[in-house]
Amino acid sequence: MNGLSAYGPWAVITGASSGIGRAFAERCAADGLNVVLAARSTDRLQELGRELANAHRIEHRVFAVDLSHEDGATNLVAACEDLNVGLLISNAGNGRPGQYLDQDVPDLHRRLTLNTTTHLELAHAFGHRLVRRGHGAIVLVSALGAIHGLPNMAHESAAKAYVLNLGEALHHELRPAGVHVTVMLPGNVDTPIIDKFGVDRATLPIRPITAPTAVRQTIRALRSGRATVVPDRRLRALTRLTPRRISIRMNSRMLAKAAANLAARTATPEQA
Ligand SMILES: NC(=O)c1ccc[n+]([C@@H]2O[C@H](COP(=O)([O-])OP(=O)(O)OC[C@H]3O[C@@H](n4cnc5c(N)ncnc54)[C@H](OP(=O)(O)O)[C@@H]3O)[C@@H](O)[C@H]2O)c1
Repeated sequence: MNGLSAYGPWAVITGASSGIGRAFAERCAADGLNVVLAARSTDRLQELGRELANAHRIEHRVFAVDLSHEDGATNLVAACEDLNVGLLISNAGNGRPGQYLDQDVPDLHRRLTLNTTTHLELAHAFGHRLVRRGHGAIVLVSALGAIHGLPNMAHESAAKAYVLNLGEALHHELRPAGVHVTVMLPGNVDTPIIDKFGVDRATLPIRPITAPTAVRQTIRALRSGRATVVPDRRLRALTRLTPRRISIRMNSRMLAKAAANLAARTATPEQA
């Protein structure tokens, strides 16, 4: 069995309103899983839920939640208490390019909750449930930027490193209990985050891949028992061949430009 059907009957997907999370939700539904769709944008989640239910005759539940709030993940777990969940896709994340010292500390804390504590809590709560049922899977979405410090995105590269190491360790801890864990390390997936970050697509070293392609490659990695996956063969090769200090310099330059683009956008909001 190659798809996700072995992990039913319910999947929980965070960040399902857009990009990679939405593509995971579509794929889960296409494989016959019922879906819990979580993010802040209620309208988009409801519309997606209706579409998936009509197209694939599955059940869905929308849970509108801000996962940067301390009780967000706990509330999501409670909202799934009555469901037989076999798959967790812990994907929601956000960030902001720019110098660390220029960023607002309360905002850094909110992003830390979203990008680390939420994964911690969801992996812990659903990890227990999956181990009890003796079967299931967890996908944690980190970032390629987790493999080294990223100037102009210091906070997110540090937070995503937590997710990478947590998931890689859980891959080994939970496997004997029948729970499969894979960490996805996206680096150039074509989602709204690219524009939200102010990244100029012309500065990307390679053309981004689509979210469904990235999801397909991640599911293949999960099904073949791999702890981590960088979707996109070209990006894997580039990462292998580029010395660490050059990679840091290249990414730092690209993110400095992104931060400048964001600042210009804020200065002229009518053009945003
Ligand atoms: N695309 C890439 O190349 C790339 C690279 C590195 C890492 N990533 C990681 O991949 C994951 C998915 O990102 P994406 O590329 O698919 O970007 P995206 O299209 O912007 O999706 C981000 C998702 O996270 C949700 N989200 C953001 N803040 C949230 C909050 N406070 N509470 C609840 N949900 C929240 C958003 O929904 P709402 O706005 O509706 O809440 C949205 O569904 C993120 O963890 C991101 O860091 C992506």
